Amino acid sequence: MSSVQTIEIHTAPAYEVTIGAGLLRDCGARLKTVLGGCRIAVAADSNVAPLYLETVCASLRDAGFAVCSYVFPAGEAHKNFTTLSAILEFLAESQLTRTDCVAALGGGVTGDLAGFAAATYQRGMGFAQIPTTLLAAVDSSVGGKTAINLRAGKNQLGCFHQPAAVICDTDTFSTLPEREVRSGSAEIIKYGVIGDEGFFESLGEEPISARYEAVVECCVSMKRDFVARDEFDRGDRRYLNFGHTIGHAAERCSGYTLPHGYAVAMGMAAISRAAESFGISEKGTAERIEKMLKRYGLPTEINFARDDMLDAMLSDKKSDGSSVALIVPERIGRCRIENAGAAELCEWLKAGGIK
Ligand code: NAD
Ligand code: GLY
Repeated sequence: MSSVQTIEIHTAPAYEVTIGAGLLRDCGARLKTVLGGCRIAVAADSNVAPLYLETVCASLRDAGFAVCSYVFPAGEAHKNFTTLSAILEFLAESQLTRTDCVAALGGGVTGDLAGFAAATYQRGMGFAQIPTTLLAAVDSSVGGKTAINLRAGKNQLGCFHQPAAVICDTDTFSTLPEREVRSGSAEIIKYGVIGDEGFFESLGEEPISARYEAVVECCVSMKRDFVARDEFDRGDRRYLNFGHTIGHAAERCSGYTLPHGYAVAMGMAAISRAAESFGISEKGTAERIEKMLKRYGLPTEINFARDDMLDAMLSDKKSDGSSVALIVPERIGRCRIENAGAAELCEWLKAGGIK
């Protein structure tokens, strides 16, 4: 096994993100030191379960945990009330209590769903994240945001519920379909744009796939700092939403068939084009961002109608009803927040190339 990195997330209580190759096999022993002697319900989707559920359950059993598991249909379209309710009923039928734990084994959909179930079942039980997508490793497994989608939009029902531990086995990325590697790459490029030009440049020099552990460590360290400054997303943490306000609207307009990272890539490209055309960002910034996104096989154009995008954006939770907070780049490595009302938003979309 290669080296194992540990990053402490400074929330209350604090917890560790452990990153390394081959960690699934001893996730039980690692969780034992944090969780003690509870029962664990492992939640996984229908793609991840055949690949990794048995390894994780065996490791947990070997460490002395009583284990049960729940498998639900894969895909963003299932991040909804129906699946949440099924997970909660399963926890009740399995007679778990608030002293027990849910482990989310999978991508961001599993983490968001299982995390929200853990946050609400018997007013909150223990929770652990075992991310298996690049996107979940670098972003969604850390920071405690949990949610499901409503008809009104993405992540409209949710809460903050920090995990007790995050165990990221980078070997699991070897089974990811190419489009999921690309999707995760979008969130990685995001970190470069919002906070670290050197990191951004490095993504053009050496591919992410050649150094997963180092890249995950770098992104999680950046996220740690944003979360430490603003756990509840009222200030600096909002920079992590770069590309997301337009991206979430694109996801919704696609009927949730567009992978999250593809939608974020489209959102980052569009907002960067608009920011440059408004003279907010340094000349050439949008082109550099688009070039990097294309290098990782990500889309940069949005073909949904501007009016549909506008409707979706105005109901997004990043909207306060009358205005939407947009994260816009000033240059690579630094962003700022612009609040836009409906009329201004329309101009942003137009300038971003959305017809
Ligand atoms: P996902 O969980 O749907 O995973 C993507 C696909 O990959 C799924 O089909 C899944 O079954 C499959 N998969 C997962 N791991 C695999 C593996 N190792 N091998 C083969 N297939 C595998 O989606 P995602 O891209 O991981 O996450 C996107 C979700 O995360 C969105 O719902 C988004 O809103 C949410 N998100 C949440 C946060 C947060 O802070 N909570 C941050 C970013 C994104
Ligand atoms: N992915 C955005 C956040 O965690 O705040």
